[in-house]
Amino acid sequence: MKFQKKAVIFDLDGVICFTDRFHYQAWKALADRLGIYFDEKINDRLRGVSRMASLEIILERATEAYTQEQKEAFAEEKNNTYRELLKNMSPADLTDEVKNTLIELRNRGYKLSIGSSSKNTKFILERIGLGDFFDAIADGTDITHSKPDPEVFLCSAKKIGMDPADCAVVEDAKAGIQAAKAAGMTALALHGDAENCGEEDYNLVNFADLLNIL
Ligand code: BG6
Ligand code: MG
Repeated sequence: MKFQKKAVIFDLDGVICFTDRFHYQAWKALADRLGIYFDEKINDRLRGVSRMASLEIILERATEAYTQEQKEAFAEEKNNTYRELLKNMSPADLTDEVKNTLIELRNRGYKLSIGSSSKNTKFILERIGLGDFFDAIADGTDITHSKPDPEVFLCSAKKIGMDPADCAVVEDAKAGIQAAKAAGMTALALHGDAENCGEEDYNLVNFADLLNIL
C-alpha cells in the first residue's frame, strides 16, 4: 500500500521516543501513593489525552472526592516525577531506526512536524537531540482541546502550510487516530491502543515501515 502525501505529523510520546513509559511510571507512583488501582490497561486510555484529563481517568477508581485544588496539586506532583525521569534522557534515547527514518523522509521531500498534547514536548525534543529538527511543533501549549479533538493536528498542518488532506499522522493513541481522522488526515497506527483500533488507515509494523508506504 502507498499513500500520496506531502507531510508527516508525528505524535511524540510513544512514537518518536518511549516517554509513554515515563508517563506510566509517574502516574503509577501517584496512584500508589493515593491507594488507587492503576495498571497498563488503564494507562492505555491516557495516551494522547491531556494531563488533567488523564488524572480524571485515574480518579475514576478513587474512593474519596478531591477538590480542584487537590487535583491540580496531584497533576503537578505527577509532572514533577515525570520531569525527573526526563532529565536522564539524552540523544542516546533516540533510536537509530527513528533517526534514520526521519532523515530519509526529509530527503524524500516530506515536511515533518510534531502534533503532541504534551506541554513537555520542546523539553523532550531538546533532550533527545531533535530540538531543531522538525519544520514545526504543535503541542499542549498551543491548544485548548486535546486529542481526540483534531485541534493539535490542524494547528501543526497550518504551521507547515499544508492542507490536511496532504498530511499523514503517526500515532500510538486511539484518541490520536480519531483526532487525525477528524482533521481529515491519513491515520497511521504504531503500537499502543492505536494499533488495530478499527479507525486507523494503516497499521505500521514498525517506525521504519513509513519508508515502505510513503
Ligand atoms: C500525551 C501523552 O502525549 O501528552 C499523554 O500521550 C499525556 O499521556 C499528554 O497526558 C500530556 O502530557 P504532559 O507532558 O503535558 O503532561
Ligand atoms: Mg503518544
